[in-house]
Amino acid sequence: MSSLLIKGGQKLSGIIKVAGMKNAVLPLMAACLLTHEECVLENVPAIKDVETFVDLFRDLGVAVTCVNHTLTISAKTATNVPNPTLTRKLRASVLLLGALLPRFGDVKMPYPGGDVIGARPIDIHLDGFRKLGARVAENHAGMHLSGKLKGAKIVLRLPSVLATENLLLAAALTPGITIIKPAAAEPHVQELARFLIQMGAKVDGIGTYELRVTGVEKLTGARHDIDPDQVEAGTFAILGAATRSEIEITPIVPDHLDNIVRQFEEMGVGFEVSKRSLLMKKPKSIYKASIIQTGYYPQHIPSDLQPPFALLATQAKGTSLIHDPVFEGRMSYIHELMKMGANAIIADPHRALITGPTPLFGTEMNGLDIRAGITLLIAGLVAEGKTVIHDADHIDRGYEHIEDRLTELGAAIERVA
Ligand code: EPU
Repeated sequence: MSSLLIKGGQKLSGIIKVAGMKNAVLPLMAACLLTHEECVLENVPAIKDVETFVDLFRDLGVAVTCVNHTLTISAKTATNVPNPTLTRKLRASVLLLGALLPRFGDVKMPYPGGDVIGARPIDIHLDGFRKLGARVAENHAGMHLSGKLKGAKIVLRLPSVLATENLLLAAALTPGITIIKPAAAEPHVQELARFLIQMGAKVDGIGTYELRVTGVEKLTGARHDIDPDQVEAGTFAILGAATRSEIEITPIVPDHLDNIVRQFEEMGVGFEVSKRSLLMKKPKSIYKASIIQTGYYPQHIPSDLQPPFALLATQAKGTSLIHDPVFEGRMSYIHELMKMGANAIIADPHRALITGPTPLFGTEMNGLDIRAGITLLIAGLVAEGKTVIHDADHIDRGYEHIEDRLTELGAAIERVA
């Protein structure tokens, strides 16, 4: 694991390019396993999670080439036994169930890994597969799903993002009609549904809480350009706001950012949004504390932006309430912010109170997870003095060449092995 050394207090300016959506590319790659034909994904972010998924695919016998943010995937020769070590590195590897089960009728794999931000069980996925007719056997080492699937109505206990994606993948090739409700409607779920349609799937209700899939016999290859990542765009917007810098974030899909910019309005953060970009304006006054409520799309801001927004709250006047009902283990980074001088109380696993504005001071911290890591990096840029982030590789799982991109804006960041 490498560390990042940050010299805080530099004013940032310029344009930062948003990479392709991390949480879309992994399900889209999984969809490529549903066909024997070649698929091409463009605007793929150069991040560690994609590298790990590519390794997992190659180990499965899938041909993958990766050139200039373009992945070409040919799964004709795929097998159905995922490598356990690689599977355990990623939460998204659970999508191999939905991709391999309809094709092989049998998948055996360990439980997926991923960020430690809560218990993250997969009961909703497995219940959904049972509804589709799969036999599910579990033991301490993992799970074994088998059987011929048949379309069914699946009522999820809650609109889990990956469970919706997993069942959508399986339903595309499952005979009959499958209804998934309440379905997650996040931009990456919508993008997966659109890609499946390009491959020949029949999916209705995209962007709503009810997806209706009519299974087809065969899917074909397709080419798809991945949308910009709304979480990365929101993170860079908070970078601009927290460092009180004017930076332009582009490209964006403005609709994906509706709730994020609404939160900025509430906090008195200045911005201009256009079709292609979000311009963060130099503030004329102090930001205002607010309630930062995360949850499902489109009502709330994504849970993945809980940590960056909490950092912004340290620079806002008054007491902000951070409420994240989605994950119960995502607030450890607040202890690190407190070491830097933040005035915060973690009320319970889902709620924290942050009173600002407080100056932050550089210190040594651990990267913890993808979103905590990037937040502590931004905190280091806001802080006076030097910050060291150990285990910085967590950040690389979700953000491409982060120190190079931020250095171009004027940040002082150095990586040490
Ligand atoms: N849950 C269950 N049982 C299940 C599935 C989920 O109890 O079978 C619970 C989870 O424990 C959590 C809640 O349901 O409390 C919602 O979790 P969800 O399943 O929606 O999350 P996920 O699909 O595992 C994806 C993203 C996360 C993002 C969440 C919420 C991917 C690869 N991961 O996770 O992204 O935070 O949705 O939007 O798409 C990240 O990018 O850093 C990240 C963690």
